[in-house]
Amino acid sequence: MANTFTMERGPAPQAPAVPAAVAHGASGIGFENVSVTYGGQTILDSLTLTVKPGEIVALIGPSGSGKTTALRAVAGFVQPSAGRIVIGARDVTRLPPYARNIGMVVQNYALFPHMRVEDNVAFGLRARGTDADAIRTRVPECLGLVGMSKYAKRYPRELSGGQQQRVAIARALAIQPQVLLLDEPLSALDAQIRRSMLDELAKLHRSLPSLTVLYVTHDQTEALTLANHIGIMRDGKLVAHGETQGLYRHPPNRFAAEFLGRANVLPAQQLVPTTDGYARVRCGDFSIVGRNHHGLPAASACYVCVRPHDLHFRPRTEASNRVTGVVQSVQWLGELHSVVLDVGGEALRLTRAPLESPPEPGTAMSVHFDAADVTLVPEVEGHG
Ligand SMILES: Nc1ncnc2c1ncn2[C@@H]1O[C@H](COP(=O)(O)OP(=O)(O)O)[C@@H](O)[C@H]1O
Ligand SMILES: [Mg+2]
Repeated sequence: MANTFTMERGPAPQAPAVPAAVAHGASGIGFENVSVTYGGQTILDSLTLTVKPGEIVALIGPSGSGKTTALRAVAGFVQPSAGRIVIGARDVTRLPPYARNIGMVVQNYALFPHMRVEDNVAFGLRARGTDADAIRTRVPECLGLVGMSKYAKRYPRELSGGQQQRVAIARALAIQPQVLLLDEPLSALDAQIRRSMLDELAKLHRSLPSLTVLYVTHDQTEALTLANHIGIMRDGKLVAHGETQGLYRHPPNRFAAEFLGRANVLPAQQLVPTTDGYARVRCGDFSIVGRNHHGLPAASACYVCVRPHDLHFRPRTEASNRVTGVVQSVQWLGELHSVVLDVGGEALRLTRAPLESPPEPGTAMSVHFDAADVTLVPEVEGHG
């Protein structure tokens, strides 16, 4: 399948209140209550999400949660059963894929095997009738952007996976798309290449700051590294979204806390609001104070969310929370130790810089964490 679309540009995008460096040619993406159904089954359930011009938004979620479907709806391969999709100032919901001026890269490269790198990159330009001189300029430009200038004459089979994916990105960029859609572009690569490709993608976006990117992945590290904003999908619904760091610090619900950054999540009851946005809850045998960031009501049940690196062996403040458990496992991961405690039947994971004398499995121990590092979160609305 060709994964570059070769379309006419739309009318000049209107992007008010955008910095000048970003304004030229930049278009955002808007999902407005977009639903997709297959054979009567709702796959995408009233998705509303905005990707601002020049922004990288990552859509993350487990396999089958509807991420690819959302992306294909933007590309025009899937027709929504309800709602609108807007690119820049244009409602593109009823436009065919070729009229949307989109670049798309999918997981498995999908380069044309019988074409040299330069012809793969030129493909979209030729299909739209770009003149030969312009193609001769544009192709090396795009290969330069992805660090593949030296490989123009190679065939895809003569390239590594990472190099093929770079070419796929160059090909997607050749037509100067308003938006770039990436569907798990790194998931076929091994871990080390993936990390360097992440750096490359960040660098690419710095050199093309007006490019709007919607990045689909099931890998939270990729999302945290690259994206300005993150949307979290579950069962076809957007269950959390927000600016990357804010979403990590104060996940709005249990699902988001666990999916993004694998926080410790402990069930709690009997919430009692205290002063200044904090609340005290009952968590098994322990009383814990945390940020009531989401304004949960008195007496409600919720979850205590605390990150593994925010747990300490000693209290750091007088008002520190303390829980006691039994060491279940100790793992040395090179850069850090990971210690799992059993606290009243719940697993609590702590990470530390490598320990000289790590605790022994089976021993009882206390861990401490600041109230400011605890976020009290509800279950996902409408689930469980
Ligand atoms: N063409 C299709 N026909 C029927 N069901 C589909 C089709 N494409 C996807 N699905 C279903 O829609 C759900 C979401 O799929 P998808 O968007 O690919 O999820 P993700 O990309 O998050 O893994 C899955 O349950 C999948 O089986
Ligand atoms: Mg997918």
